[in-house]
Amino acid sequence: MTNISIVLGIESTCDETSAAIVRSGHDILSHVIASQAEIHATFGGVVPELASRHHIDAIIPVIEQCLTESALLPDDIDLLSVAKGPGLIGSLQVGIQTAKALAWGYNRPLVGVNHIEAHLYASMMDLPSIEEYLPAIGVILSGGHSTLVKVEKIGTYAFIGQTVDDAAGEAFDKVSKMLSLGYPGGPAIERLAARGNPLAFPLKGGAVKGHPCSFSFSGLKTAVLYTIRSLEAQGPLSEGMICDICASFQQAVIHDLTKKIRIACEQFCPKALFLGGGVTQNAALRRSLENSLSLPLFWPSKNLCLDNAAMIAGLGYYTYRHTLRDERFTLEPQTRIAMASI
Ligand code: KG4
Ligand code: ZN
Repeated sequence: MTNISIVLGIESTCDETSAAIVRSGHDILSHVIASQAEIHATFGGVVPELASRHHIDAIIPVIEQCLTESALLPDDIDLLSVAKGPGLIGSLQVGIQTAKALAWGYNRPLVGVNHIEAHLYASMMDLPSIEEYLPAIGVILSGGHSTLVKVEKIGTYAFIGQTVDDAAGEAFDKVSKMLSLGYPGGPAIERLAARGNPLAFPLKGGAVKGHPCSFSFSGLKTAVLYTIRSLEAQGPLSEGMICDICASFQQAVIHDLTKKIRIACEQFCPKALFLGGGVTQNAALRRSLENSLSLPLFWPSKNLCLDNAAMIAGLGYYTYRHTLRDERFTLEPQTRIAMASI
């Protein structure tokens, strides 16, 4: 079947259960996202077992709502696309097994796509074609990944750099936990950072020997911990101090990301930058990169920064048209996917 147009996408890699119906890889006809953030907030991070249980409860209602809102019938779906990984094994299983069952029931092909690659695709989704912007550099900044790749075309990437320890979003989440600001940490830290002094504490991201475009945020995270401890030794943290810590930490992450993305641009001379993942919601990061780079920058629209099924459906459209690979009987979850594939 090559005349594919309508794709039902399913996402369940971590703590969002999502379904979307997308036409021709671009037009979102319906999109439902059920977030579990509130459930995990109590624990300061995602609890894998709770996540998979809530996916089981949510997945069918989410898909039904998505179909209803699209005003389409199951028969109108040409292809199913599901995030095959990376992600939590129990969470992945729920999406994948549901997608397999539906593909079998609807008698339609199923394609599995890489969640990280889909985050990158989210910034390409509004463009009718990306040819004129290639080769480009892709930047994925999420809770689990901080990765730079050279984009030759959709599906063909060359590795440039990645984090050697914590991902950028993970660092936001951990610092937020240290300050009891809740989960996810990024939005809370960004909000308080706006009221703080970014020069209050001398913090910076780590260098990775021999890899100028790779990241290390664990030292920064420890430096924040020591800063908090030494302040707390003199008394409880004031609101002003918390804002200053957030501002100094956020600036350190943004400076580090900006510096290394600039190095990658100087080295690879891309025609554009495509960015994706939850951290790209950060307005200060967007300003920093826009002010320091002179090439076109493409960001996902706000509803496509976090985990969502529209990017899974969109990328699935391209992947299937390119490979014609029907995985409805063979697809298995991949909790880790080799870097070479994105
Ligand atoms: O892409 P995503 O939804 O999930 C993964 O695939 O990991 O990203 C979630 C991450 C979390 O770590 C969250 O703290 C971070 O994105 N994040 C932010 C902001 N909004 C979400 N980080 C910094 N600033 C934000 N405004
Ligand atoms: Zn994600």
